[in-house]
Amino acid sequence: MASHFSKKNLMQIQMERRDFCQQSVTVSLLGFIGGSLTGCVRSQVDREGVSHPLGIKSIKTKLPGVGVPVIKDPQFDSVVVPKGYQAKVFFSWGDPVENHAPLWKGDGTETWQEQQLQAGQNHDGMHFFSIDHESNHGLLVVNHEYINPSHLHPNGPVKGKKRSLDEIKKEQAAHGISIIEIKKRDGIWNIISPSTFARRIHGNTEMEIRGPAAGVEAMKTADDPHGHRVLGTFNNCAMGYTPWGTYLACEENFPNYFVNTNPSDRKSRREHHRYGIKKRSQYGWETSDPRFDATADPSKPFGGQVNEPNRFGWVVEIDPFDRRSKPIKRTAMGRLVRECATPFVAPNGDLAFYMGDDSKGEYVYKFVPSSRYKPNDQESNKHLLDSGALLVAVFHDDGTGTWKELAFGHHGLTPENGFRSQADILINARSAADHVAATPMDRPEWVAVHPQTKSIYVTLTNNTQRGVNHQLNQANPRSNNQHGHILRFSEQDNQPSARSFSWEIYLFGGHSEKKNTHGDIHDDIFSCPDGLYFDSDGRLWIQTDFDDNSHEHARFGLNQMLVSDPRTKSVRRFLVGPKGCEITGITKVPDGTALFVNVQHPGLSFPASDGKSRPRSSTILITKDDGGVVGT
Ligand code: FEO
Ligand code: CA
Ligand code: CA
Repeated sequence: MASHFSKKNLMQIQMERRDFCQQSVTVSLLGFIGGSLTGCVRSQVDREGVSHPLGIKSIKTKLPGVGVPVIKDPQFDSVVVPKGYQAKVFFSWGDPVENHAPLWKGDGTETWQEQQLQAGQNHDGMHFFSIDHESNHGLLVVNHEYINPSHLHPNGPVKGKKRSLDEIKKEQAAHGISIIEIKKRDGIWNIISPSTFARRIHGNTEMEIRGPAAGVEAMKTADDPHGHRVLGTFNNCAMGYTPWGTYLACEENFPNYFVNTNPSDRKSRREHHRYGIKKRSQYGWETSDPRFDATADPSKPFGGQVNEPNRFGWVVEIDPFDRRSKPIKRTAMGRLVRECATPFVAPNGDLAFYMGDDSKGEYVYKFVPSSRYKPNDQESNKHLLDSGALLVAVFHDDGTGTWKELAFGHHGLTPENGFRSQADILINARSAADHVAATPMDRPEWVAVHPQTKSIYVTLTNNTQRGVNHQLNQANPRSNNQHGHILRFSEQDNQPSARSFSWEIYLFGGHSEKKNTHGDIHDDIFSCPDGLYFDSDGRLWIQTDFDDNSHEHARFGLNQMLVSDPRTKSVRRFLVGPKGCEITGITKVPDGTALFVNVQHPGLSFPASDGKSRPRSSTILITKDDGGVVGT
């Protein structure tokens, strides 16, 4: 059994310590925060063994471990990193991806055919796949989560009840995934073009459906009577990757793309109502693309498109090294409003993928494949994600936890209780998790696994309904949780397939006022943790996503990335982004000398930062002036 975290009044102890350690900070756009709390920080749980100390040095104060200040300037339209580092714009919406793609025009006049060749909008999760184990050469795979119609089209979307199909196709083209080949030559990173790998996957790319739900009635539509083929992927938020070199794009807020305009029918279908499908959609695609009108049509085979939403919410496995390969939706991993699918691989090849369902009061899941990963057997690894156990987490108040398997015939998941088969359970994973009394969480976002200790960290970004619609529990102990927290757990015997674990809260976001907003961060504060990533040395990188216009978040300034040492829980702000943005998506090259981060939906004119250009979501390349490891 892994070490057991003491839960005795943990939050209270942390809060008291926070009061004692309360620091006074001076914020200046020109300088850096002063203040050293090392004496307090040292008293934290020291269970995370080896990792390199944070090396962000102060410019002026010469105090150790001092980060970038909070920036509150509503006109701030840039990215700031600590002295000794450089941040360069590397890959933006509209940049060419496919060979022979046009350059970004800057006025929104690209056709949908051109947008299918260029980078999409709203960069999110991403991963660097090394070529030949090189740190100077590889593939960067980037999600494009959603769209900003006002910037995508020349003058925003044309108004009217029925939307233009050309506009809709352009919006679908700006979703999905970009695969680019990148290389460092003479110390400078570039995108290689033309490239045999360059590829855009978008909202109309043909994909295969595999696993237990493939071909069942609930996956068939008038357009796909066999239930094995689907067009496109949307709302790819965070991601995962596999040890056999594939990328896992995750489909998050897919219900927003569909309508069911028949209220009684909607109520009768848990595939619809339990995932939040409504009578209106976010972009109105259904007005001209019938695929997105999921209202049952008895005159058509399989009810028309009523099952189309059942074909989203999956993990999409993509082989980035083969541009002719068809992406595969892996139904064995369950249908969620899925943030991520983070791998944990044991030395013997056992593995699990951890997944957050990011809605208020939803659950943390893991998928354990039936077979082990075999490093030298690509044929065996090829469809490892087609069979295995889907499990959901129960966080007990005493700091222990249980994984409950969502398997047909177990835990009451039987026809008498409305679960007809394993496929039915997977398509309705949320309902199955309800049935086994999983623990409703404060919006589970990213999951990261410590490279040495194998502790698993999950961001719970916020939940303003906690204490109202969702009862308090020890894992989600703050009512009206505006600032979120990070929880960590250890599997029994550090085995990915374990059925029990121990947990504790790593940090509460927030500041030091009212009880429910009172965080326990000793140094650089944050709110609404979302992106989360361990580099290979064991530094924990934390990215934030809060509304930088809201009164509740005013003291946090603009969205940011911080870095934390899991041994001490110290936190240093490493990057602040432009007004209006979210910082999300992070990956490093193997030797740690290049770090890629995404600025999503900047609000002003970033990256041109000229006060007039259309803002563009962008991948930022961060390097150290001395060529060293980022974060040292
Ligand atoms: Fe797309 Fe849960 O953030
Ligand atoms: Ca997110
Ligand atoms: Ca978020």
